Amino acid sequence: MSRLLITGGTGYIGSHSAVALSKTGHQVVLYDNLSNSNRTILQSLGLIVGHHMSFVEGDVRDTKLLISTLTSHNIDAVIHFAGLKAVGESVEKPVDYYANNVQGAISLLQAMQFAQVKTLVFSSSATVYGEPRYLPLNESHSTIATNPYGRSKLHVEEMLADIAASDADWRIACLRYFNPVGAHESGLIGENPSGIPNNLMPYLAQVATGQIPELSVFGDDYPTTDGTGVRDFIHVMDLAEGHILALTYLSRNTGWHAVNLGTGKGYSVLDMIQAFEKASGRQVPYKIAPRRAGDVAICYSDPKKASELLKWRAARTLDDMCASTWRFHQFRRLSVES
Ligand code: NAD
Ligand code: WQD
Repeated sequence: MSRLLITGGTGYIGSHSAVALSKTGHQVVLYDNLSNSNRTILQSLGLIVGHHMSFVEGDVRDTKLLISTLTSHNIDAVIHFAGLKAVGESVEKPVDYYANNVQGAISLLQAMQFAQVKTLVFSSSATVYGEPRYLPLNESHSTIATNPYGRSKLHVEEMLADIAASDADWRIACLRYFNPVGAHESGLIGENPSGIPNNLMPYLAQVATGQIPELSVFGDDYPTTDGTGVRDFIHVMDLAEGHILALTYLSRNTGWHAVNLGTGKGYSVLDMIQAFEKASGRQVPYKIAPRRAGDVAICYSDPKKASELLKWRAARTLDDMCASTWRFHQFRRLSVES
């Protein structure tokens, strides 16, 4: 059992990971500036885990607040989810992305160094591989970022490698997520982006609920079985459990480790539509639209390193991903209506 600080803890992946970590006996403190989440989630988290979760409202660039949080809660390790994540927005607002993601990480590292907390799990992304040169993508694939968001992730990964090289006490895992989707099985928490969603799954869900009339499928002329893009969608609870095993690994190993968290399987956009229709019992109207700038045709992981190092493997199916997303959206509509 460890005492963990979870930055970005009220966000999508942070909240699901907080549940998984809490259920395995870890004590968690959530830290978030609520720029892309809401404190009402704390109530849902309390219902799921059966007790109140500690929460500190703050920005990761507030080094003093981080130091006092790390010391007052006697934190053993940090999981760093906090940051901005929209690729398109990062092209328009690069300064915000470097400030939140890179400056935020520097501030966190300064605080951790001061408080002598030297175990860190960092939310990285498969985006650091850029255009795949071969598939499946393993951790030895070259890294190159093609937008400010990706560059911010790569900068932080590189900083972390330098820190681990400078001081043998650091234990750092950079977990490279593929495409996280789905929701906790309770339906109480899930992905709830504000405005029009950028990503496929939340968009699909909003079409199925009737909030958006139809989905645009970005391109049907890719060199894939049905012409639409292929991605490695991974259930957010599988992803959450990967963090538990990463912490276990770090409790026994020092140094810097980059590990993919994906299923190793690719599904196309049309596969996703079909699976979502099955899970929801609703039709998902769609039209074929031009390719989206910056998209790659196919992206999926080689999950071997995660299996060997962390003893982790994704267990949930595509049907689980769609069914849990649908459950979350139904619960949300009920709670909005009541
Ligand atoms: P999210 O936006 O739901 O959660 C991020 C949380 O961080 C939010 O609650 C937000 O309020 C908070 N935050 C942002 N800037 C902050 C700051 N400066 N100080 C304190 N809190 C701040 O996003 P998510 O999908 O849960 O992503 C979590 C992490 O995983 C991010 O670092 C993201 O880049 C990474 N990631 C996400 C995906 C994905 O598709 N969701 C894929 C790969 C990597
Ligand atoms: C998946 C597929 C689209 C929306 C992004 C980031 C990546 C990572 C995960 C953070 C693609 C198609 C989508 C729509 C569609 N995030 N699509 N219609 O682009 O693989 O990855 O999120 O690290 O960095 O780039 O995910 O869900 O946006 O798209 O046809 O309305 O669905 O073209 O083929 P992506 P996505």
